[in-house]
Amino acid sequence: MTGDRSIPSPDDLAGLQQAAIDHLFVGTRNAAQLAEEGGPMIVTDSDGIYVRDASGGRYVDGISGMYFRNAGHGRDEIADAIREQLGRVSMHIYAASTSSTVRLAAKLAQITPGGLTRTFFTSGGSESNETSIKMAQAYHNRTGSKGRFKVISRKGSYHGGTLGTMWLGSHPFLPREEYQPVPSHAVHVPNPNPYRCELGGRTPEECADLCARAIEEAILFHSPESVSAVIGEPVTQPFGGVVPGPGYWDRVREICDRYGVLLIFDEVITGFGRTGAWFGSDTVGVTPDIMSFAKGVTSGYFPMGGSIATGEVSDVFSGSADKTFKHMFTYTGHPAGAAGALANLDIMAREDLPGNARRRGLQMSDRLEEMKERHPSIGDVRGVGLIQGIEFVKDRETKEHFGEEVGWGPRLTQALTDRGVWIRVGSFILPLAPPLIITADEVDGLCDAVDEAITEVEEAVGV
Ligand SMILES: Cc1ncc(COP(=O)(O)O)c(C=O)c1O
Repeated sequence: MTGDRSIPSPDDLAGLQQAAIDHLFVGTRNAAQLAEEGGPMIVTDSDGIYVRDASGGRYVDGISGMYFRNAGHGRDEIADAIREQLGRVSMHIYAASTSSTVRLAAKLAQITPGGLTRTFFTSGGSESNETSIKMAQAYHNRTGSKGRFKVISRKGSYHGGTLGTMWLGSHPFLPREEYQPVPSHAVHVPNPNPYRCELGGRTPEECADLCARAIEEAILFHSPESVSAVIGEPVTQPFGGVVPGPGYWDRVREICDRYGVLLIFDEVITGFGRTGAWFGSDTVGVTPDIMSFAKGVTSGYFPMGGSIATGEVSDVFSGSADKTFKHMFTYTGHPAGAAGALANLDIMAREDLPGNARRRGLQMSDRLEEMKERHPSIGDVRGVGLIQGIEFVKDRETKEHFGEEVGWGPRLTQALTDRGVWIRVGSFILPLAPPLIITADEVDGLCDAVDEAITEVEEAVGV
């Protein structure tokens, strides 16, 4: 149907799928792949932890959309708050604000840890990290350290898709070689992944110690006068919920303080209950100077994020006109997002979703540990709260992954889909991050499906 500009009827599933194949970039799939699969899943409805598609299938949403649907699907309370706000004031006007936006900023100052107090709102996670980085650079500029522009990030972390953020960290399934040159602010250090410690640490403690020291070495190597910030997620997602060994973030905090470097936490995924506390910062017991957030702040009911800074940082941008933080986005502080976020945060507090994430996370960890005993393909299980993951290996001794020709990821993805679970397995990592409302029975059902799917794929590839 390429070239045919008629719009398919929404009732005609085949027409919609063909239109998607012809006209849409869908996630990280390409048109030929989609054509082979008959088109993408077309979601028509969602409720609780489930999504339904146009062909009548119902799936457990195993990664909360994309790590954002913390309060679960079908929350009329959030949708109504957004609708009601749009009916009253539907925009954030330049150089003014709205009551919902101000109320959200005050609420965030109340629930975030430590002295985090002033928010710059954005439309998503990449913009939030861009904002945090610019804020850190401008902070140093204003406080007399004009050369501090470098940002130290950890390999195996993801911080966004824009040119300024994409070269921070690295993502195993999103290579960036095509987008050159590497910006001069990007400095990389190892990720404290205890299962594969790049620096050879044999215990989580040793790995944490070596990786924290690597940050200090990078600061000294590049010269403290050139380093603006260290950015990291308290718990790292791309490798499936990597929790650094004890003391890592305390050490990093000390190192940053020693050299006058700001610590930015990217809480785009870990914020708003995911780790079993309100913020990942609470889970690791360390407060950053600037925190980036998005996703869970509205549970994804409206595209919104932000950067919240301590008074020490944000006060630098107050005073005469030249002190203003010179940064803006058209949709900063959108009142519909703010109203949705306020309703979302009410639900999270009322239903104690961080507490539920902690309890259900412990249940899930137990189930995954038990699966590891029985499945030789499982190299490691990890995570905290409801950000968990399984890493698959061909050989537990060498930790070698299955070759691409084995098709481990696609096979497992299909086996899960066949069992009513929607998770895309990126070659060797199975991420598990369901909505925080999940019940104990639903965790068991999800884990049963994962267990059976692994058995099926192990048998098929002869493990
Ligand atoms: C930790 C982290 N930071 C930043 C981002 C970028 O957020 P967005 O896709 O909303 O721009 C993501 C997206 O998945 C993320 O996981």
